[in-house]
Amino acid sequence: MANMETAEFETDLSLFKYDNLEQLPPRYRDLEENERTERIEAALAELGDDVVILGHNYQRREIVEHADFIGDSYQLSKQAAEADAEYVIFGGVTFMAESADIITDDDQSVILPSMEASCPMAGMAEALQVDSAWAEITAAAPDADIIPITYMNSYADLKAFCASQGGLVCTSSNAHKAFEYAFNKGDKVLFLPDKHLGENTAHRLGMEDEIAQWDPWDPEGKDTAEVAERDIILWDGYCQVHERFRVEHIEQVREDNPDAKVIVHPECRREVVEAADKAGSTATICETIENADPGDTWAIGTEVHLTNHLQRWHPDVNVVPLCGDACMDCNAMRQIDPNYLTWVLEELACGREHNVIEVAPEEKELAGVALDRMLEI
Ligand code: 13P
Ligand code: SF4
Repeated sequence: MANMETAEFETDLSLFKYDNLEQLPPRYRDLEENERTERIEAALAELGDDVVILGHNYQRREIVEHADFIGDSYQLSKQAAEADAEYVIFGGVTFMAESADIITDDDQSVILPSMEASCPMAGMAEALQVDSAWAEITAAAPDADIIPITYMNSYADLKAFCASQGGLVCTSSNAHKAFEYAFNKGDKVLFLPDKHLGENTAHRLGMEDEIAQWDPWDPEGKDTAEVAERDIILWDGYCQVHERFRVEHIEQVREDNPDAKVIVHPECRREVVEAADKAGSTATICETIENADPGDTWAIGTEVHLTNHLQRWHPDVNVVPLCGDACMDCNAMRQIDPNYLTWVLEELACGREHNVIEVAPEEKELAGVALDRMLEI
């Protein structure tokens, strides 16, 4: 794996930032669900308070069933900060486990059962690439104080970069507050990597006319005149699971059932968010269905494991996937296979740690500043 120096941080040019991936031993590959559940429960009983399992809302059923806490990115980072277990097992993707490692104490270990759980969107803004774009962007607006904000879906080195420039981290539940924080401090925001969350947040704040696009892969997509004139610069990253949703899907749902309501994640395209009845983080989506009346119909525009959980958890509500069978699961989240969970727990019960996420010390401190700023807004 290539290592390159940025101005201040060392960056791995790879989606798979952690190259100490340990594969599942063959004896764990074909476990039956009943046997696996018994073994997970036995290992957990032996480990007691030494272990806490955090599960993102997009995890498979066989993972969330064993989680002590299930939630969105923001809730899980709060839970990680409050956890006092020696081992935090993270049912999520690399950037979430990195954040947990940054937030937890040094004597706690964060374990990501499979190291292959890497969010492609996080890989769309490498610190190295952002560092060189930063030079161009700041040169385009030399008199402006630009504050970088990175979505939680980014690696620790980019979080550290944002902190070093006075910026912070946000999740989909607090992006508007992060923008307000930044505009109290400076003149312009550079938002990375998700252009759709950035655009939806600009609309929420009534600043849609202030958007400048920055496509680092396309020389035509870097308009320095726009950057000089406008206050919100959006990096050209996206989530393919959420980009799939279209206004036609919402129209179809309403044609099939005129009483149906639609809720989507703010990683969806602007026109989809505008056409939906509601938009919000995965926790907001969960709360909306929890508070629905029996017999209500809600179409959900997000990752399909969550839609399936909501169907199971609330059988009296009619929960439907917004684009039917075309709704995607997240390939990165899916990598957390329950057989891996069994393996890491049984090994821990024998005193052996596998797939520990350890953020480099030089990134950890500054990335922690960016996360703390978020937890304080
Ligand atoms: P939430 O913060 O809403 O849980 O979203 C995380 C995510 O990765 C959405 O794709
Ligand atoms: Fe990343 Fe999209 Fe998966 Fe969320 S759903 S973890 S943004 S790939």
